[in-house]
Amino acid sequence: MNKSDLILDCLKEIPVLEMSILPTPLHRLNNMSARLSIDLYCKRDDLTAFAFGGNKTRKLDYLVMDAISTGYDSLISFGAVQSNWCRMTATAGSVNGLDVFLVLSGEKPGKETSNLLLDRLAGANITFIESTERDDIIKEVNKKILELKNKGRKPYYMPVGGSVARGSLGYIRAMAEIMEYSETSGVDFREIILASGSAGTQAGLLAGQVICGWQGHIRGMAVSRPRDEQEQIVLEIARDSLDFIGYEYEEQSLTSGIHVDDSYLGDGYRLITPGCRQAIQDFVRYEGIFLDEVYTGKAAAGLIDYAKKGKFSSQEPVLFIHTGGSVQLFE
Ligand SMILES: Cc1ncc(COP(=O)(O)O)c(C=O)c1O
Repeated sequence: MNKSDLILDCLKEIPVLEMSILPTPLHRLNNMSARLSIDLYCKRDDLTAFAFGGNKTRKLDYLVMDAISTGYDSLISFGAVQSNWCRMTATAGSVNGLDVFLVLSGEKPGKETSNLLLDRLAGANITFIESTERDDIIKEVNKKILELKNKGRKPYYMPVGGSVARGSLGYIRAMAEIMEYSETSGVDFREIILASGSAGTQAGLLAGQVICGWQGHIRGMAVSRPRDEQEQIVLEIARDSLDFIGYEYEEQSLTSGIHVDDSYLGDGYRLITPGCRQAIQDFVRYEGIFLDEVYTGKAAAGLIDYAKKGKFSSQEPVLFIHTGGSVQLFE
C-alpha cells in the first residue's frame, strides 16, 4: 500500500463531516523559491473554504460530527477574544443546528472587529472574561456548562484549538493529502514547516508520519510556549490520536519525529516580531498570499531564516503549511 492509502485506511471507520473542501490546493511558490534559493511549496489550508478557512475546519469536521452523532445540542469552547478557533466553532455549530457558547478571554474591545465580528455574525453566545489565566477561564467554562445542564441542555465541550485526539485526526488526514500529492507529482518533500500553538495540527501530522513512515522532518514553529513544553504537548496529543484509532507503533518512531523550534516566538503569544512582519510582507508582495501576525507570519519567519542560514538543500522540496488566520489582519 502506498503512504496515503496506509493513512486513509486507519481513518476509514471514523465518521467525519465535510465542511472543509478537500484536498486543499498545494502549489509551488516560484518567486519565494527563487529569492531563497530553495524549492518551496505551500499547502493552502487557509483555503479549506469553510468560514474563511484555516486549520480548525479539519478538526471541526471530526469533532462536530461526534457532537451530532452522540446527541449533543450545543457546542461550548473558549479562546482569546480574537480566536480563529472560536470563529470557526461559531460557524460550524450554527450550520449544523447547534447553539454555540464561547468564553472569550482578554480585554473586551470597544469595537468588535475581525474574528469577534464574525462570531457575532454566526450567532454565537459570548461570555467575556478579562483574565487570561487558564484556571480562571476553565472555571468560567465549567460554570457555563453547569448552567446549561441545569436548563436541560446537552453541551459538547471542546478545548481551545480542538487539540484533542479526535480533532487531530483532521491532520492525520491532511498528511494523507500531502503524501498523495507526492505520489502523483513526484515531488518528494523533505521538510514540512508550520505554526504550532495548541499543538493538535503538528500532532496530527506527526501521527500521520508514524503511520506511513515518511522520512522527512515536520518542524513546528512555536507561537505560544517554549520548545520543551510544546514538544511534550505535541507528543501527548499524537500519542492520544494514535491510541484513539487503535494504531500500534514503536515509541521511537514517535519521539524521533518531534521537532519544535521556539526561536521565532519573540516576546510571546500574539506579540509580533520584526521577522514576522517581514515574512508577511514578502508573502504578499512576492506570492499574493496573506499570512497573519500570530501564527503563520511567525512560522514563515522561521522558514525564511532557515533558508537564509542554508538549513535546506536547494534539491530538497520544502512544504510550508498555511494554516489560515489572515482575518487577524482586520483587527
Ligand atoms: C491560523 C492558525 N495557524 C496555526 C494555529 C496553530 O494550530 P494548533 O493550535 O493546532 O497548533 C492556529 C491555532 O489557533 C491558528 O489559528
